[in-house]
Amino acid sequence: MSCAVDSVRDPFNNSWKTLRFPNIKPSELLLLFLKAGLAASTFFLITLVFHLTLSYSQPHYHNNNHTSVKYVVQPQKTTQEQPPANISHLFFGIGGSVATWDTRRQYSELWWRPGVTRGFVWLDRHPGNSTWPETSPPYKVSGNTSAFNYTCSYGSRSAIRIARIVKESFELGVENVRWFVMGDDDTVFFTDNLVMVLSKYDHNEMYYVGGNSESVEQDVIHFYTMAFGGGGFAISYPLAKELVRILDGCIDRYAEFYGSDQKIQSCISEIGVQVTKEPGFHQVDIHGSPYGLLASHPVVPLVSLHHLDYVDPIFPNMTRVEAVRKLMTTYETDSGRALQKSFCYDLRRNWSVSVSWGYSVEIYPSLRTVKELEMAFQTFRTWRSWSDGPFTFNTRPVSSDPCEKPVVYMLDRVLNVGGNKTRSIYRRHRDSSGNVCAREDYVRVSVVQYVDVYAPHLISEAWKKAPRRQCCEIMNGSDGMDKNVISVKMRGCHRFESVTPP
Ligand SMILES: *[C@@H]1O[C@H](CO)[C@@H](O)[C@H](O)[C@H]1NC(C)=O
Ligand SMILES: *[C@@H]1O[C@H](CO)[C@@H](O)[C@H](O)[C@H]1NC(C)=O
Ligand SMILES: *[C@@H]1O[C@H](CO)[C@@H](O)[C@H](O)[C@H]1NC(C)=O
Ligand SMILES: *[C@@H]1O[C@H](CO)[C@@H](O)[C@H](O)[C@H]1NC(C)=O
Ligand SMILES: *[C@@H]1O[C@H](CO)[C@@H](O)[C@H](O)[C@H]1NC(C)=O
Ligand SMILES: *[C@@H]1O[C@H](CO)[C@@H](O)[C@H](O)[C@H]1NC(C)=O
Ligand SMILES: *[C@@H]1O[C@H](CO)[C@@H](O)[C@H](O)[C@H]1NC(C)=O
Ligand SMILES: *[C@@H]1O[C@H](CO)[C@@H](O)[C@H](O)[C@H]1NC(C)=O
Ligand SMILES: *[C@@H]1O[C@H](CO)[C@@H](O)[C@H](O)[C@H]1NC(C)=O
Repeated sequence: MSCAVDSVRDPFNNSWKTLRFPNIKPSELLLLFLKAGLAASTFFLITLVFHLTLSYSQPHYHNNNHTSVKYVVQPQKTTQEQPPANISHLFFGIGGSVATWDTRRQYSELWWRPGVTRGFVWLDRHPGNSTWPETSPPYKVSGNTSAFNYTCSYGSRSAIRIARIVKESFELGVENVRWFVMGDDDTVFFTDNLVMVLSKYDHNEMYYVGGNSESVEQDVIHFYTMAFGGGGFAISYPLAKELVRILDGCIDRYAEFYGSDQKIQSCISEIGVQVTKEPGFHQVDIHGSPYGLLASHPVVPLVSLHHLDYVDPIFPNMTRVEAVRKLMTTYETDSGRALQKSFCYDLRRNWSVSVSWGYSVEIYPSLRTVKELEMAFQTFRTWRSWSDGPFTFNTRPVSSDPCEKPVVYMLDRVLNVGGNKTRSIYRRHRDSSGNVCAREDYVRVSVVQYVDVYAPHLISEAWKKAPRRQCCEIMNGSDGMDKNVISVKMRGCHRFESVTPP
């Protein structure tokens, strides 16, 4: 009797959980009982029916692998019982290579916090006998991928190795990981914001979080359904667990796809999980000046930037890395507010002021609509073909007439001024053309050399509410004593407040 039951129980392994229910009909199971000449006891029959019902009601019955079913059966804590997510619940997998690490590590080291952030940079081979920098993430050497197929004529086989980082990271079996976060060696993560954004989602469910490319041509060639790898993406633990099971087979099935991120998305698609798009992840698939992109950030926390070696330095007159370091210090002063926009009118002078906190301020000597102010200046071209678009967001052209452009101020420095408030100072920026508008209304603006922005720390609770742009007001007296400076206060909007010209 027990033998017969075991033959049912144990087609693969010694556990009920291994039953391939989709392939074995209940009638066949009954037949097995009969074949074994059993007078099946009611007890066993009931047990069997019970387990059948139970297993069919499990959402993961399609898994024929006991390891994945096991996790479903495991009791799961509800989110209420769990402490809030912090940086140690993230496990990073950075796609690197020995040849590029020495230059790219400048970007990783901007955000990597030794002893705090967890994860590895994955290399193509051992880095030799030179000392590995202590400021770098620790490294691991990826497994041999020569057995896998790669048939994309214009791509690189390294895509296979990078795609497998999520699997190799998972298989390290590190404790207390809620999210596996993948990125490139030139991805800059804003980790506090990343934690804040990911904590919106229940890490006990299967989530795949990331963003698209800014260049439509890239989304067409690759996929709109995909989280682009350079901008980085996060895979929750339960999704990683299902993904690693099918990943290797999947990599061969999608051998013709160019990128590691395409292969990952294809495999996740087989599981049926969809990308959850978060617009704070930035692939930065553009060429030229990133000014327009950064000065019109969507109303979400800044999570990542990528490709910073392929665009102009984000602040003028600095090296690329120094410029990113400057943005990092801004972000460290008030992470939630970095790049957040705010528009206000100075009705005594009929000026429009547009703040992009921690980055730039624009002043127009006229009252412009919010719809105009919120649209990105197209200071860049598309990634692949260097075209004028299209992009996945609306852009407005940059006029060559200086009287059509705002007067621009770039961040000089940010200070904490106590009471959880910051003061950020922006200095008048003269563009390289040297052209200035001689019209009287412009000249009055051009007298202003500095914009002083006061703001309370944007607490993370604000990001748990429906997204709303911050409001601002021009502070009284700022045109009195010192015509060189105007002061602006950023704050949450009041009820029934809107930026509406009189
Ligand atoms: C089940 O998972 C184990 C460990 O991950 C793996 O070795 C095995 O090949 C998997 N079996 C199937 C049928 O996918
Ligand atoms: C993160 O939260 C865990 C509890 O889940 C705690 O043990 C750990 O100390 C926290 N880490 C940090 C860096 O706050
Ligand atoms: C690495 O080892 C080789 C020989 O084993 C030696 O010639 C070389 O100087 C070493 N390099 C460093 C950076 O230690
Ligand atoms: C990878 O595996 C192949 C055989 O599958 C072998 O020929 C090759 O030498 C291996 N490469 C490394 C770096 O171990
Ligand atoms: C790899 O490609 C070769 C040639 O197209 C094919 O014969 C082989 O079956 C493929 N291997 C896998 C694992 O798909
Ligand atoms: C650029 O930086 C250098 C040195 O930091 C400084 O001397 C120069 O005035 C700066 N140029 C501009 C246009 O700000
Ligand atoms: C501001 O504009 C309004 C209407 O456009 C006009 O009536 C008013 O005189 C202007 N004020 C100043 C200070 O220019
Ligand atoms: C700053 O914020 C923290 C936490 O939000 C709060 O505990 C503290 O009292 C605040 N400090 C001041 C001076 O307002
Ligand atoms: C500026 O002064 C006006 C009245 O004189 C007042 O209504 C307004 O609230 C003041 N604004 C600020 C930012 O202090």
